Amino acid sequence: MTVDDYLEQHRGAHLEELFSLLRIPSVSTDPAHRGDVAQAAEFVAERLRALGFDTEIAPTAGHPIVYAERLDAPAGAPTVLIYGHYDVQPPDPLDEWRNPPFEPTLENGNIVARGATDDKGQMYCHIKGAEAVLAATGGLPVNVKFLIEGEEEVGSPNLEPFLRANKDRLSADAVVISDTSMYGPGRPAITWGLRGLAYVEVHVRGPSHDLHSGLYGGGVRNPINALAAMIATLHDEHGRVAIPGFYDAVLPLSDEERAETAALGHDEDAFRAEVGVSVSPGEEGYSVLERISARPTLDCNGIWGGFTGAGAKTVLPAQAHAKLSCRLVPDQSPAQIVALLRAHFAAVCPSGVTVEVEDHHGGIPFLVDRGAPALGAARRALGRVWGVEPVMIRGGGSIPIVASFKSVLGLDSVLMGFGLADDRLHSPNEKFGLDNYYAGIRASAYMLEELARG
Ligand code: BES
Ligand code: MN
Ligand code: MN
Repeated sequence: MTVDDYLEQHRGAHLEELFSLLRIPSVSTDPAHRGDVAQAAEFVAERLRALGFDTEIAPTAGHPIVYAERLDAPAGAPTVLIYGHYDVQPPDPLDEWRNPPFEPTLENGNIVARGATDDKGQMYCHIKGAEAVLAATGGLPVNVKFLIEGEEEVGSPNLEPFLRANKDRLSADAVVISDTSMYGPGRPAITWGLRGLAYVEVHVRGPSHDLHSGLYGGGVRNPINALAAMIATLHDEHGRVAIPGFYDAVLPLSDEERAETAALGHDEDAFRAEVGVSVSPGEEGYSVLERISARPTLDCNGIWGGFTGAGAKTVLPAQAHAKLSCRLVPDQSPAQIVALLRAHFAAVCPSGVTVEVEDHHGGIPFLVDRGAPALGAARRALGRVWGVEPVMIRGGGSIPIVASFKSVLGLDSVLMGFGLADDRLHSPNEKFGLDNYYAGIRASAYMLEELARG
């Protein structure tokens, strides 16, 4: 039996299994879901054990890491380390889901559930891909190590220590990851860049307690007004981040890269239509595609303070808060950007309030070595599945551990995503095309074959 025949015959089973995994609400950021996260780790480990992998669930200070290996490839065969994550983002806002987020459904050829594409569906493609090769040929053509974590969505705090403690065990020739997107429907892509992340929470404090805005308004600095004014200083009229030094470490885009990006023919009208806006302003001088994938940004993620309940309450609040994130590009560093943010807020903070900038998790931006041999295997594997050459793109999101694969293990990563950018990652009604799920499984199986060819 061929890999393709096997996959054809097991489509129903492969869908059912993914549905079972999607039913587990493994929300890593929420302590109430600790047990569910552990159950998702069990599920993944059990599937790998069933394929004859030597499998371990390694506990950490946070959520467990699933590590599994099958090292019985023919002598001289290379080793691939497949990384993915079984944790998911919170499903909020719940009332915007057409169906409950952890009751997967099929809608117009899409699997709809939290984690469908990010990353349970894409990660599971590799487990089923290995299964298909094993079923068709009785063995694996390359040594395969799976590293599936449960803390990607909270910044992977315990994975780098695991890499350091298990350097020998994790040795490989390349890392393969499916946690990014294709360029578009039917247009496979290899992602060669990821943005980094600096995430802070800003606390503005004024009077010692909330005040009657009639009795005190006009005589006391309002922390919300002050926070809004400070946030308004973060960008200039050219759409650039106005924090002094923000762009100092940014590697400029080369002319070749800009030409390669332009040749993709990104449809900005379609982009605006997808997100429901009529204009898409941003840093002047760059296309939308460049701005969302290869240039650094600063966004306010949340802002709160004062009275937000029903009706009107006249109050001058004692505090105001905001969460801010910067997407970073090489060679910016999260620590350096947080330091610049701190200095900027201190400089623009008006009298009558104090400002505190609290550092959350971050991620180092990364560019893959485009000459890495495993990229050739990925090109061939994706080409066989989709019938067209994959394009090279940069991803606007972050996968913090990719930088550590290089710095700790010396490994290049091949980022071959099977999802689409409009799969609503982190949003209500997250989806993964059924066609892309099945194509992703085939791509994973072919990737093992192509890696064996060198
Ligand atoms: N899979 C995404 C990252 C991604 C998606 C990269 C699409 C490129 C294209 C990942 O799960 C993610 O959401 N990462 C977080 C990182 C954070 C929580 C440290 C992100 O980018 O916000
Ligand atoms: Mn992901
Ligand atoms: Mn994610």
